[in-house]
Amino acid sequence: MAPIIKSKEEREKMRVAGRIVSEMLAELRQAVQPGITTAELDRLGAEALKRHGAKSSALGYHGYPASLCTSVNEEVVHGIPGKRVLQEGDIVSIDLALNYNGWHADSAITVPVGTPSPDVQRLLKVTEDALYRGIAAARAGNRLQDIGRTVQQFVEAAGFSVVRHYGGHGVGRSMHEDPQVLNYVETGYPNYTLKPGMVIAIEPMVIMGKKETRVLADEWTVVSVDGTPAAHFEHTVAITEGDADILTR
Ligand code: MF3
Ligand code: CO
Repeated sequence: MAPIIKSKEEREKMRVAGRIVSEMLAELRQAVQPGITTAELDRLGAEALKRHGAKSSALGYHGYPASLCTSVNEEVVHGIPGKRVLQEGDIVSIDLALNYNGWHADSAITVPVGTPSPDVQRLLKVTEDALYRGIAAARAGNRLQDIGRTVQQFVEAAGFSVVRHYGGHGVGRSMHEDPQVLNYVETGYPNYTLKPGMVIAIEPMVIMGKKETRVLADEWTVVSVDGTPAAHFEHTVAITEGDADILTR
């Protein structure tokens, strides 16, 4: 289906949802420290959602059992919060999508626990920079593949791998809308021209080592096959006549 165009008014409603996501991620970042479990992060997230009058988009999505996704070290994405205790030197990605007033917003950050090794710190920096480069490529008149190419070239030049199969997506009245927003160049996917009013989540997932992933027996958690750490940063952005407008700022 062609990507849905959102009016200015609709984008302002999405910005309200986006601001809640951003405030919540800032709070959750503060809570990350050695000794906390990912289940505790999820509990804090559930409380904050209630406080903001928002609903998790993830909870119940195809049976997903938690309010947010927490992916530690070699976990790439869709990690289910649980008993895992965060240790000094770990990294944890916190991925939060919520619905406020009928509009969804989706954002993720990867947070260091204490001080990870310099190569892991570089992984975080490269992945976050890749997101902002992808956002810079998200301009009216460019195509979807310009985003993927930009992210892929930047990540591979840094010596890391872009995760295949999982990627960004349209966002709006549903958490996941068309189009798919790949972080790499692949033929056979619709390569739409970006137009003002499209709203998309851009979410590079980067593995320090090889690109291959597999899903654990819990049927959700995606891990790197080689066991090396992975990072994930995401924003929901609106295409405009000028620079992309980051709604989850
Ligand atoms: N930001 C994640 C995504 O776009 C949210 C996943 S929710 C889950 O895939 F339920 F699928 F885990
Ligand atoms: Co997303």
